[in-house]
Amino acid sequence: MNPDEISGLDSKGMEALEKQYLHPANQDVNYIAMSLTGDKINIGVLGSGKGSNFQAIAGAIQAGKLNARIACVLSNVPDALILERARALEIPAEYIDPAPFKTKLDGEAELKLIDRLHHYGAGLIVLAGFMMIIKQRLLYAYARRIVNIHPSLLPAFPGLEAWKQALNAGTKTTGCTVHYVDQGMDTGAIILQRKVEVKPDDTPESLHARIQQQEHIAYPAALELVIKRIKGNMGKES
Ligand code: GRF
Repeated sequence: MNPDEISGLDSKGMEALEKQYLHPANQDVNYIAMSLTGDKINIGVLGSGKGSNFQAIAGAIQAGKLNARIACVLSNVPDALILERARALEIPAEYIDPAPFKTKLDGEAELKLIDRLHHYGAGLIVLAGFMMIIKQRLLYAYARRIVNIHPSLLPAFPGLEAWKQALNAGTKTTGCTVHYVDQGMDTGAIILQRKVEVKPDDTPESLHARIQQQEHIAYPAALELVIKRIKGNMGKES
């Protein structure tokens, strides 16, 4: 299978692709082994904004609650706060020019980003407020190794500003979802969800702030599950 064939794959297809990578006969096994530093999996974080989820994950690692290492933070926004936060923690942080596209990661920018992720030995990609659509090559290079956090209880309210969608729909309960990334928009297999009650006097801002509090608990917890699964799969025949 080549990167262009991946566009038709659903979550099960992505899982099968990952198993193919994990097969000992496949040279990618060497790459997966390389993505560990000691017994810690190397995480590559992609973000476009303020990076509060990145900060929560870094905090969980520092507190010894998550056995991982953040290898790099990459952003499509040159002055994104997430880059500043990473540098303050002495984590390599780079701007990747997304040209010629603004909303999808494709073409040269996609290849450059994959190259940087490989350079830093990333074995797991964490999207933390990354406002670009991930395309085939990255999905192929990191089959079932890309996770995202979304501010709703998926499959409800995919897409932009999910907290506003929840308010407009008059729903009583919303929340956040950590999920694997596939070729769809917020459609990948769900890893973990946390609920948030909508209050009668909620504004978009107040609701989003409470959802974010839950995100900061959900993301490190979900990553713990994902890392366990990856380590459990390593070296297994498929
Ligand atoms: C979060 O609300 C997340 O659900 C969405 O983008 C936002 C990122 O926030 N995907 P931050 O940059 O981590 O503070």
